[in-house]
Amino acid sequence: MCGIVGYAGERGAADIIYNGLKQLEYRGYDSAGIATLSDGKIHHIKRCGRVNALDGFAQKLSGKVGIGHTRWATHGKPSDNNAHPHLWGKFAIVHNGIIENYAELKEKFFAGVKFLSDTDSEVIVRLLDKFYDGDFALALNKVAALLTGSYAIVAICTDFEGLGVLRRKSPVIIGYGSDGNFAASDAPALAGVCKQISILEDGDCAILTRGKVEIFDSNLRKVQRAKKPNLATAASLDLGDCPHYMLKEIREVPASVVNTCAAFQSVESSLKQALRGVTRVIITGCGTAYNSGLVAKRYIEKFARIPTEVEIAGEFRYKDPVITSGTVIIAVSQSGETADTVEATLLAKASGAKVIAVTNAPYSSLTRCADVVVPVAAGPEICVAATKSYTGQLAALYMLAYVLAGKSADGAAENISAVPKLCKKTLECADIDSLADMCVSSRGVYFLGRDLDFAVATEGSLKLKEVSYIQSEGYPAGELKHGTLALIDESILAVVLITSARLAGKSENAVEQVLSRKGKVAVITNVESVIKRYADRAHIVKVPECEEDISPFVAAVAAQRLAYAAAVKLNRDPDKPRNLAKSVTVE
Ligand code: M6R
Repeated sequence: MCGIVGYAGERGAADIIYNGLKQLEYRGYDSAGIATLSDGKIHHIKRCGRVNALDGFAQKLSGKVGIGHTRWATHGKPSDNNAHPHLWGKFAIVHNGIIENYAELKEKFFAGVKFLSDTDSEVIVRLLDKFYDGDFALALNKVAALLTGSYAIVAICTDFEGLGVLRRKSPVIIGYGSDGNFAASDAPALAGVCKQISILEDGDCAILTRGKVEIFDSNLRKVQRAKKPNLATAASLDLGDCPHYMLKEIREVPASVVNTCAAFQSVESSLKQALRGVTRVIITGCGTAYNSGLVAKRYIEKFARIPTEVEIAGEFRYKDPVITSGTVIIAVSQSGETADTVEATLLAKASGAKVIAVTNAPYSSLTRCADVVVPVAAGPEICVAATKSYTGQLAALYMLAYVLAGKSADGAAENISAVPKLCKKTLECADIDSLADMCVSSRGVYFLGRDLDFAVATEGSLKLKEVSYIQSEGYPAGELKHGTLALIDESILAVVLITSARLAGKSENAVEQVLSRKGKVAVITNVESVIKRYADRAHIVKVPECEEDISPFVAAVAAQRLAYAAAVKLNRDPDKPRNLAKSVTVE
């Protein structure tokens, strides 16, 4: 979604905000803007394009108070006009979220008035100016009472040397710096400038000046929000010698797995307690997080023999789910802020399910509705495409499945201990680059597999399409013949994952079916008999041999590397794929 930053302090605001926005570009990058306040006047610049479209202009904005925005368009196409900040009267605002009743509000309060943009957000600044009578906090409060939907809003007012902040559903943190105070969507924006942060809660309003932070609830009663350490550091955002965060983060997969296993120990006993008497598991998440649930289902059903369903959060939240006693919901989310996942989890909780959150974001919204938070210790993931967080999720879910089976997490950690080395070896696999060439020259790519291989195939396909824009689908190998085979011809590539000797013969059927229809085939495998059989008929990527249960880690790293290589060959920016944003805090 969009990224927002505000600063009120002793230094030039524009520079600080610009740097913060650069760190938040993963949240959206179709337009950007900054507004500052000096001598009772608002100065601003906004441009279609990435944050660096502001280069040379932003630096000229004077003032020690300001707000900034990097956008992922929801209402209104990416354009200079639709970029934030939006200005009207004495105010400028930046907004992340969706104002669902913006059309009604326009009709009710501004009928016949021409707005300057096509956004839902502009109505906020118009309302602020309308309801302002000298009290900033009161005006914010009145506006909040009118808005429905989700919002993180930071506003400036020509009468006041500071910031006004509102939060409902979309995340906002307050940062305490040595020379001023901040508001931002996420901790990386404040890496290196704030050691301490507070997380605003739904309905909160905050007023920040250079030396003071005041937080109010929705009744404008003063409240305290605990200060926590800012875990994002400047070092964690350093690209090192990597050209892209995607590659850097794939290389960090081994560390993500090691750290997640280590972090699991701190929750093992509370998890055991929470899972006592569980008879049914529902896993929910979106995108990659959903895909890791597909792997986890297989772990849980194999180790614990507990029936497990995997639900796309955006679907689950709109059905009337059957939550029986003994149901636990495992909500998986890298960011912990994905709106569909948070809402699906709240729904299950309200129906009586226990909630386990599996997340890389320890202070996120998801953690606040969980009975137990299982940490994914992947570290900040900047690339929009999830890589090290996926394998971190697999590690956490593998351990969780063990605990559900009544076993000690030590046993699980022992099984996974081979994973970091195996993943490093996979990164060195020679034939991935040439497979990327095959992808690039194909009209479409199917990722096929059975059981665990199918679960990883869904993620391999998502990764490829997300960063390379090549049409792709993850499909169960056995299902191909029930319709999809009609699409196979010489322009189509099938990437078949075969990491299980048990199921190799069955997956080979799919290889034969594609070859017979003149489709191209690549096999990612560690099964010797498969390598021998297809050495001359298919492109082989030989990945390290391993136990079947940990093969998803190995296959995932191969698929991630493949997607990265294809994106680079096509000159895509793998870190910021078009039309996407990392943290999807709207529906
Ligand atoms: O932060 P979350 O894990 O909840 O995000 C869910 C999806 O938006 C995310 O996994 C998305 O599919 C990734 N960009 C895929 O690489």
